[in-house]
Amino acid sequence: MRMRKKWWAVPTLLDSGKAFFWPEENKGHWSEKFNNNNPIHLDIGCGSGGYCLALARKDKNRNFVLWDKEAGVLVYALDELLESNVDNALIIPREIDHVENIFAENEVDSITIHFPNPWPKNRQNNRRLTYPSRLLKYKNILKPDGEIDFRTDDDELYVDTLSYIEEVDGVILEKSDDAPPTTPISHYEERFRENGVKIKYIRFKF
Ligand SMILES: C[S@@+](CC[C@H](N)C(=O)[O-])C[C@H]1O[C@@H](n2cnc3c(N)ncnc32)[C@H](O)[C@@H]1O
Repeated sequence: MRMRKKWWAVPTLLDSGKAFFWPEENKGHWSEKFNNNNPIHLDIGCGSGGYCLALARKDKNRNFVLWDKEAGVLVYALDELLESNVDNALIIPREIDHVENIFAENEVDSITIHFPNPWPKNRQNNRRLTYPSRLLKYKNILKPDGEIDFRTDDDELYVDTLSYIEEVDGVILEKSDDAPPTTPISHYEERFRENGVKIKYIRFKF
């Protein structure tokens, strides 16, 4: 189902001071935006951000970046961020393909990619958030030994992602085609589990 555009999403995010529409300005200096040198965690395709914000509330010694291309879902993340007074998280409303212009080499400590769109048609595979060309971009911004945590409900995306990781010489640290739930749990994962869908999981690095 196509989501109806929310005309107020972009102005609301702009006014908040929490969303960065010109994030290139901060490349290499994100720690200044957080006022500390704590590790930076990036949630790519965060959607409405519930999972990442729950992590941010639990772990005040890390900084969290909620990244999604849809302002219409990020306004929900903004609501929750403001309501719960989370000061170790910020929002980047951008297409992920520009990530290397936004974070410097080794600026990011860890990444989550949870329940990305599966893009099952062959000609659309290159839109996947785990496609090899994208993994190479993540490799560039991640610290050595920085880990990526990937989850999906989709069998084909799981199998293909394992081969994408191999293709870019990534190292699989852990994998499962029937993973236990995360704590906290995201709305997506909760919904899949209620419908009896097994969750697939890969933890990897470069
Ligand atoms: C199915 S949702 C998953 C939301 C969230 N990770 C969760 O687990 O609840 C996938 C999200 O990825 C975002 N997305 C897809 N392709 C993207 C891209 N190229 N750049 C940035 N975000 C993207 C979509 O806008 C969508 O909000």
